[in-house]
Amino acid sequence: MDTDDGLIRTSSLMQRQDTELFSTEEDSSLYFTYSGGCNQLEVNDLNYEVDTAAHIPWYERLSEFKLPWAMNGNKQKAISNLSLRVRSGQMLAIIGSSGCGKTSLLDIITCRDEGGEMTSGEVLINGRPNTPQLVKKSIAHVRQDDRLLPHLTVRETLAFVAKLRLPTHFTQAQRDQRVDNVIAELRLRQCAHTRVGNDYVRGVSGGERRRVSIAVQLLWNPGILILDEPTSGLDSFTAHNLVITLSRLARGNRLILLSVHQPRSDIFQLFDLVVLLSSGSAVYCGAARDMVSYFTSLGYPCPRYCNPSDFYVDLISIDRRSRDREAECLERASVLANRFLESVQHTEDHVWKPTERSAEQSECPGPSDAADSEVVTISRQQDRLPGKLKQFTILIRRHMYNDYRDLVTLLVHGFEALLMSLLVGFLYFGAGEQRLSIQDTVALLYMIGALTPFAVVLDVIAKCKVIFPGLTSCVLFCAGHSERAMLYHELEDGMYSVTSYFFAKVLGELPEHCVFTLVYSLPIYWLAGLNEAPDRFLLNFLLAWLMVYCSRAMALFVAAALPTLQISAFMGNALFTVFYLTGGFVINIENMWLVASWISYVSFMRWGFEGMLQVQFRGNKYPVTISNITINVDGIHVVEAMNMNQYPLYSCYLVLLGVCLGFMVLYYISLKFIKQKSSQDW
Ligand SMILES: Nc1ncnc2c1ncn2[C@@H]1O[C@H](COP(=O)(O)OP(=O)(O)O)[C@@H](O)[C@H]1O
Ligand SMILES: [Mg+2]
Repeated sequence: MDTDDGLIRTSSLMQRQDTELFSTEEDSSLYFTYSGGCNQLEVNDLNYEVDTAAHIPWYERLSEFKLPWAMNGNKQKAISNLSLRVRSGQMLAIIGSSGCGKTSLLDIITCRDEGGEMTSGEVLINGRPNTPQLVKKSIAHVRQDDRLLPHLTVRETLAFVAKLRLPTHFTQAQRDQRVDNVIAELRLRQCAHTRVGNDYVRGVSGGERRRVSIAVQLLWNPGILILDEPTSGLDSFTAHNLVITLSRLARGNRLILLSVHQPRSDIFQLFDLVVLLSSGSAVYCGAARDMVSYFTSLGYPCPRYCNPSDFYVDLISIDRRSRDREAECLERASVLANRFLESVQHTEDHVWKPTERSAEQSECPGPSDAADSEVVTISRQQDRLPGKLKQFTILIRRHMYNDYRDLVTLLVHGFEALLMSLLVGFLYFGAGEQRLSIQDTVALLYMIGALTPFAVVLDVIAKCKVIFPGLTSCVLFCAGHSERAMLYHELEDGMYSVTSYFFAKVLGELPEHCVFTLVYSLPIYWLAGLNEAPDRFLLNFLLAWLMVYCSRAMALFVAAALPTLQISAFMGNALFTVFYLTGGFVINIENMWLVASWISYVSFMRWGFEGMLQVQFRGNKYPVTISNITINVDGIHVVEAMNMNQYPLYSCYLVLLGVCLGFMVLYYISLKFIKQKSSQDW
């Protein structure tokens, strides 16, 4: 009796595992079953052309001794006559060798295609043409490259996304629960408290990072999930597990669309539908289990013990090693593509079905009435995502976590600023009671203003682990650029607004900025024995602070406005040098020609220098010897002689503030209107 019972229990358990592989008890929690209704994605007769030379800018063409208009790009068909239809509850895999157009297709669906042109066809999401707004709302897109903040742990990364992307009616406990669910589902528990890392910072393994990227998108429980080669770079066990997870998610009423290179056989079996792409044309679109019978009917049976996906991907791959072979492969692929088009031309859903089974097609599990009513409430509530102020507070915390976690780098930066300060300070050390001469003091004051940004630059270089000795302001651009790719993705995903990011970035960096300016300017000041009155020190410090801040704002603007690190670094240097030269030290303001003197009005070096001179010299008596007569001259006359006392002291502060604000506004405009492009996007 007991054994019978046991057997029954085991068999029922196995059955449950079989049928409920996709819906365990946990699955009924808020996360696993998508209750937002049935989605449908349709691609109709899509043709897409890319200009293979389009991404080469005109100025690079000049280097090939070709005039921009003389160089016609090579138009290449990336996708031709492609139609497909997927619904919630299904997982469709786009399979094909590298360069067959998988990424292009996913990018067209998610409105992220660049450099190409859709010559015909349409993409419909639930019957409506895909627009960036619609995509942002309904599709989660996991890209081929991971963009995550390196110093946050896996759990923190997900917790921040949960705060940003889950509707406001979620309680903190529900958010935590969701994070736990996703961590468990993607098997990230063992590394939940490990840093994410990146190319430079050691963190979780590459496969785990991939899963974190997927988790970030899964968190907000999208109805449609699109993944570009999620299994590439994973070991086969992890890849298998990942696809099982995706399959479970599909069973939970989601639509999953993914691209894969060449899946192993047990992964292949998990797909509901597959599209086999060859040079952008579908060679097969239909149920995974029918693929072998389709090709067998065409005279290409799959050999025994051979993985069908391997065999058929090899069959349709284009061998470009020689012209003859290429022509042969292209011919075979186009014949297969035409045969397929013929075989599905009378079907409505563009899916090949074996004749005897065509009737019993599984229908999309349509939402019940109850689910329908839920759809309405959920979608209404989902619209209420955190407001801009809330986004700002979340982002600033994330920024602090990521930056201040990296204590070693911060200490290195601080040490560098200190070293710089000590080097200069000791050069002027030892004047004692006699004080520095007028000439030395003027040179020192100019150096304080010109060198501080340089120290900041060094900080950023260390931060980015790129050593470019002598490249001023490079640090800041590095920082801007490493963040830029992430910003590009997150803004595209609609995770937060530019305004929230802008304020979080600017305010988040302030404490670091203050500490470094202090570490830099304090030792120099006392070592060189400048004016000891506390008010003079404070006024001087404020000027140094504003000057460094101006160069920081300038660097941020240049990094956001220009496309590549090299161009930003070059422009930043050029601007910095122009301001340096027109600062009033290298050449007297009065002796500058017209344009240079205009520029000097916006040169933060000039205003900082002018302010510092006034602060130091006013009221200080300096002995001046002419022949045998020594007279004590008020320092302010020296400043007057240099034409640096034309405006009152407060105007120096006001102009510096104005320049800071000006660069900040330019930075904001660049963030808002210049597409923050990831440099390695394709
Ligand atoms: N913006 C573009 N400019 C030039 N060529 C492109 C562009 N996008 C795609 N291509 C070309 O289209 C083909 C398909 O690319 P892609 O979709 O990235 O392939 P897959 O993801 O399947 O490896 C490739 O030959 C690629 O060089
Ligand atoms: Mg690709």
